[in-house]
Amino acid sequence: MKTFPKNFVWGAATASYQIEGAAQADGRGESIWDRFSHTPGKVFNGDTGDVACDHYHRWREDIGLLQQLGVPAYRFSIAWPRVIPTGRGAINQRGLDFYDQLVDTLLAAHIQPHITLYHWDLPQALEDVGGWVNREITGAFVDYTQAVAQRLGDRVKYWTTFNEPFCAAFMGYRDGVHAPGRRDEAQSLQAAHHVLLAHGLGAQAIRALQPTAQVGIVLNLWTVETLTEAPADQALVEGQWQADCGWFLDPVLRGCYPAEAWAAYGSKAPTLRPADLQTMAQPLDFLGVNYYFRALLDGARRISGAPDAEYTDMGWEVHAPGLYRLLTKLQREYPAVPLYITENGAAFQDEISADGGVHDPRRVNYLREHLAACQQAISAGVDLRGYFVWSLLDNFEWARGYSKRFGITYVDYATQQRIPKDSFHFYREVIARNGLA
Ligand code: FCB
Repeated sequence: MKTFPKNFVWGAATASYQIEGAAQADGRGESIWDRFSHTPGKVFNGDTGDVACDHYHRWREDIGLLQQLGVPAYRFSIAWPRVIPTGRGAINQRGLDFYDQLVDTLLAAHIQPHITLYHWDLPQALEDVGGWVNREITGAFVDYTQAVAQRLGDRVKYWTTFNEPFCAAFMGYRDGVHAPGRRDEAQSLQAAHHVLLAHGLGAQAIRALQPTAQVGIVLNLWTVETLTEAPADQALVEGQWQADCGWFLDPVLRGCYPAEAWAAYGSKAPTLRPADLQTMAQPLDFLGVNYYFRALLDGARRISGAPDAEYTDMGWEVHAPGLYRLLTKLQREYPAVPLYITENGAAFQDEISADGGVHDPRRVNYLREHLAACQQAISAGVDLRGYFVWSLLDNFEWARGYSKRFGITYVDYATQQRIPKDSFHFYREVIARNGLA
């Protein structure tokens, strides 16, 4: 039996747009994901988050699932357009009421809320005036953060400013595959800069209102690796690491951008003001790590994975040793900061069996291997404090719509019935034992 440290935080994660639905309820404004998903050709099958898992109405049942799972923590995000429907200005108390009730009910169930302020559902009204490319958005983010922290800060201890700035900026503004769907590299770098700046300002705002808050950020990270040991490849590896991960880690933890990656962008590098780097590098109480796969290079070319590897339904290589190497690399190369795995999981094509269950042995295996990698990293001295599985429920998987199922709970979208999968029961046992059998 591989046991975890005594107070290791077990959790499950979700995000507002992916589960809530109720897109028009109680004064919620339009988000960039409403606009994007309703634009033909942007999301697989024309799927939208209009209804999703209808969590906005079924949240009590979903808290029941968390209780059944036995987790002491739940990571979820707040929908900015519920709180400030037009991005700036009047606060919609009915939007906050929803989260207020959720927090109270979680706490009554002895489940700590871990709140993410921004998991990609930007009010469309802010995108209409430039979105993350317009520096003024940082002020809007601070107002929003204050509104939420004022209402929930007396009860919520764990705060994450942003989920995956890489995806928000690069997939949204460079690759065009996520909302708002722009394709402009220089703009995406400026957007990333404003996200990181808003992170720093948001962290200050939370602490000003709630000095005992634990404040962090969540980054999607991967190790960059090659199939060969050739020295020339090692330079490529370092360059790719800097561009993908260093670009976000360095500003937040070291107060600078990685020099070579900055130089490589030339005139596309973002415009900064002198104090920005200092603001972005607020002391952090934790760093959240989302890990799904490693990046593999064949020479300068990025390949999806090793030829003989297992792949998930997303086409992502299953590679748990990469998680171990990532965690130990962070520990070695960055200033000490407690780490949490804030997302880890896999999509497979799950079906309801004749016996009524959902048997997902490949997800069970994925989780077992990745949890073993966490355990190994802890034994090697990594300060890993917790693990949140992605995700509690099958949900709206962004550009892939409902076609990709990441849940440990199956959602039958026609009836909204929830069916815990075998992986749910597996994870419940891990939590109960605080270890892997
Ligand atoms: C991450 C997102 C999360 C989910 C997983 C599969 O990039 O943070 O919302 O979609 O991928």
